Amino acid sequence: MSQSLAIRTSALAGASAALIVIYAAEGEAPAGAAAAIWSATGLDWSVTAAAGAFKGKQGQSLDILGQGGKRLLVLGSGKASSETPLNGWTDRGGSLLAKIAATRAETVAVVVDEPGVTPAAIGELAAGLRLRHYKFDKYKSARADDVVADLAVTLHVADPAAAAAAIADRGATVDGTLLARDLINEPANALGPVEFAARAAELGKLGVEIEILEPAALEKLGMGSLLCVAQGSDRPARLVVMQWRGGDVGAAPLAFVGKGVVFDTGGISIKPAASMEDMKGDMGGAAAVTGLMLALATRKAPVNAVGVIGLVENMPSGKSVRPGDIVKAMSGTTIEVINTDAEGRLVLADALWYTQDRFKPRFMINLATLTGAIVVALGHEHAGLFSNNDELSIQLLNAGLNANEKLWRMPLAAAYDKLIESKFADIRNSVGRPAGSITAAQFLQRFVNDVPWAHLDIAGTAFGASNSEVNTSWAPGFGVALLDRLVRDYYQG
Ligand code: BES
Ligand code: MN
Ligand code: ZN
Repeated sequence: MSQSLAIRTSALAGASAALIVIYAAEGEAPAGAAAAIWSATGLDWSVTAAAGAFKGKQGQSLDILGQGGKRLLVLGSGKASSETPLNGWTDRGGSLLAKIAATRAETVAVVVDEPGVTPAAIGELAAGLRLRHYKFDKYKSARADDVVADLAVTLHVADPAAAAAAIADRGATVDGTLLARDLINEPANALGPVEFAARAAELGKLGVEIEILEPAALEKLGMGSLLCVAQGSDRPARLVVMQWRGGDVGAAPLAFVGKGVVFDTGGISIKPAASMEDMKGDMGGAAAVTGLMLALATRKAPVNAVGVIGLVENMPSGKSVRPGDIVKAMSGTTIEVINTDAEGRLVLADALWYTQDRFKPRFMINLATLTGAIVVALGHEHAGLFSNNDELSIQLLNAGLNANEKLWRMPLAAAYDKLIESKFADIRNSVGRPAGSITAAQFLQRFVNDVPWAHLDIAGTAFGASNSEVNTSWAPGFGVALLDRLVRDYYQG
C-alpha cells in the first residue's frame, strides 16, 4: 500500500506537530517565525549548531529530539543573500520530503519564513514534495514493516490562501507528470495500445474530448506507415486524439504528438536481450503528451490544445513488416523499411501528417524516445531538440531551463536530408550510424510542412536517468513540466 500525502497551508504562527521543520541560512540563527520556535527549545544556537556541524548549507540538517517524542528539524537554506530561483524551490521541496520521510513522522509542520518567498515559490516547494514522494510500487507485495499511515504536511507561510491557490495550480502539472510516470513504469503486459487508449479516455472526465481511431479507420486514412509497425503484434494499433478547448472558439490549437510504442522488440530486426525490458518505456512521448493534456485540463488552461498519440506494439511474427518492404504513408510518401527497429519514425510520420492536416495548429511539437544515438550524444541530462523554427526553439530552451527539464538544440540541414533517400522508394527509414538522431529527425521533417515544428528526442531522459531531488522513479515523467511551462509562459492570454 502506498502512503498518501496531504499538503495544507496555515499561518506562520501556531506550528505544532510530531515533527516541526524550520530553516536557517548559512552562518545565521533561525530567523523570522523560526526564531521563536528555536528559542522554545531553550538551547543555545551557536553551541548546538557547532556540535551538529550545521553551517546552514542547502542539504544540511540539525535534528533535535525533545521531550514527549517531539522533534525539531532545522534545515539549511543556503546563503541568505542569494535568492533561490523558482525551480530551486522545487528541489528544496524534494529534499524536504526526503528529510521528512527519514524521520517516519506522520504529521509535519514546516515553517517557511524567508525574505522573498512568494506563493509561487511555495507552489514549487509543494510540487517538489509530491514529486519526490512518488513511488511505483503497485506490483510489490506489502511487507509487515511498510509505512501505511498517511503523511500530512502543513506549510506555515505568510499568505496561506495565496499559497494554497499556487499549490493547486502547480499541482495540476504535478498530476500530469505523475500520470506520465505511471504510464511509463507500467509493464507492457498490462499496458498495450488498447489499455493505454482507455487510460487516455479517462481525461474525458476533465472535459477533454477524446477520439480513439481503430485500425479500420487508420487504414481508411491511408496510414500505412503507422500500421506496418503494428502488424506483427496480436494487439491492434490505436490513434488517440485529445482536444482541450480552453481558448477562443476557432483559434488554432497548440499540437502535441507522441510516440507510443508500448513495447519495442525491434521487430524482425530484433534487439539484443540486454536491457530490452527498458523498451516498455518506448511510449514515453505518448505518456508525456497525455500527462500534459491532463495538466492543461485540470488547471483549465486558457488555450486550445490537441494531443495526438500513436499507440502500437513492435513485435516479430509471421505477420511482421520485413526489411525491404515498402509502405505508403498518409502523405503519399513511400517508405522503404530498411530496419524494423527504426519504427518510431514510421509511427510519427502518419501521426504528424494527420495532426497538421486536420488541425492546422499554431505549432506542432512531438516527443519520442526515438534514437539510441541521442543517448550517446547527450546522455541523460538533456533531450535533443530539432526544429524548423528559431523562435519556438528559444521558447522551448527557456522553458526547459525553468522547468528543470533541459533541452539541447541539434541541427537539421539539407545535407542530412539527402541521406534518407532510398534506392527503391521515396525515402528509407534507416541510414548508417553517423548522425543517427539527425537523420531520424530529417525523416520526421518529411511529414511536416510549413508549421512551426519541434521534435524532442527523449530517449535519454524519459527513463533510466539517475535519481534527482524530485525523482527517485525509473521514469521521471520528462516533458510534462517543460511543455506546461512553455504554454504558461508564451501561449496563455
Ligand atoms: N526505441 C528505440 C530508441 C531507444 C533506444 C530509446 C534506447 C530509448 C533507449 C528506437 O525505436 C530504436 O530502436 N532506434 C534505433 C534506430 C536505428 C535502427 C536506426 C536505434 O537507436 O538504434
Ligand atoms: Mn526501435
Ligand atoms: Zn522504439
